[in-house]
Amino acid sequence: MQKWALEMKRAGIPVALVPTMGALHQGHYSLIRSARRTVGEQGVIVVSIYINPMQFGACEDLTSYPRNLKEDLAGCRREGVDLVFAPRDKAMYANCPGQAHSTVVIESDISRTMEGASRPEHFKGVTTVVCKLFMLTLPEFAVFGAKDYQQAAVIRRMAGNLNIPVKISVAPTVREKDGLAMSSRNIHLKPIQRQQAKVLHESIQEARKLLHGHQKHEINVRQLKKNIEKHIQRYDEARLDYLEFFDPNTFKTRNMIRTGTHMALAVYFGKTRLIDNGRL
Ligand code: PAF
Repeated sequence: MQKWALEMKRAGIPVALVPTMGALHQGHYSLIRSARRTVGEQGVIVVSIYINPMQFGACEDLTSYPRNLKEDLAGCRREGVDLVFAPRDKAMYANCPGQAHSTVVIESDISRTMEGASRPEHFKGVTTVVCKLFMLTLPEFAVFGAKDYQQAAVIRRMAGNLNIPVKISVAPTVREKDGLAMSSRNIHLKPIQRQQAKVLHESIQEARKLLHGHQKHEINVRQLKKNIEKHIQRYDEARLDYLEFFDPNTFKTRNMIRTGTHMALAVYFGKTRLIDNGRL
C-alpha cells in the first residue's frame, strides 16, 4: 500500500482516502462521491475497508459487525474507486516481525466525553488506526461522515497536533426516509426496533423545535434534557445511553442552550447502539 502511495506522491497525483469498516451503504458512497469532487478526475480515491479490533471494547460487537467484502468491492468499482485497501489484522498490527505493536495514538481532550466516556478504549483505537492508514496511504485529503461528529473532530485534532499533512473534510449524514441516519449497524435492528430508531433524529428535531419556540431562543439544559428524555421514553425499545449539548468546537457542555449549540445522543435498541447528532 505504502509503495503505491509513494509512487502517487512522486508522480504528483493526489490521493483522497475514505476510511471505512466495510458493509458499505449510501452514506459511504456519498463520502466516496465527496472524495471525487475534492480530488478531481486527475486524483485517485483509496477506500480502506478494515474492521479495526482496537476500537472495539471487550463486550462490544466486533464479532457480529457486518461484513460483506464482495458487495463492497462491487460497490467501489461502480463508484469509480481507484484502489481498495482491505488489510488483514496481521498486516495492520504485526507488521514488524518479532516486535509487539506497542505504540498508540491518544487524543486526550475532546475524546473524553460522549463516545469516549461510553466506550473508554474506542478513540484510542480510532486515532491509532487512522494515523496508520494516513501513513500507509499518504492522502492529501480524507473524508469522514458527519454522523460520527466527535470522531471527525478527534481525527482533525490528531492530524493538526501531529502535523500530518492531510486535509480532513466531513460529509453530511445520509438518512433513510424516516430520518434514521444510515449506519452499517442498522441491519441488526429487529422490525419493531427499526420502526422506533427514528427517535434519534426525531429528538434532534424536537430539541430544535423546543429551543426556537422559546423566548430569546434560549433554554436551560436541564429542562431541555428532561423533555428529550421523556420523548425517548415513549419508545419502549429505546434505552438512552447519553444525551449531550455542547460547544461544537471545544466540546465543553453548556448550561444554557442557544442556537449553534451542538446536540449528540446514543441510544441502545437491544444490543445495537446507534448515534446521531445535529446543530441546534
Ligand atoms: O468510522 C469508522 O468507520 C471507523 O471508526 C474508521 C474511521 C474507519 C476507523 O476504523
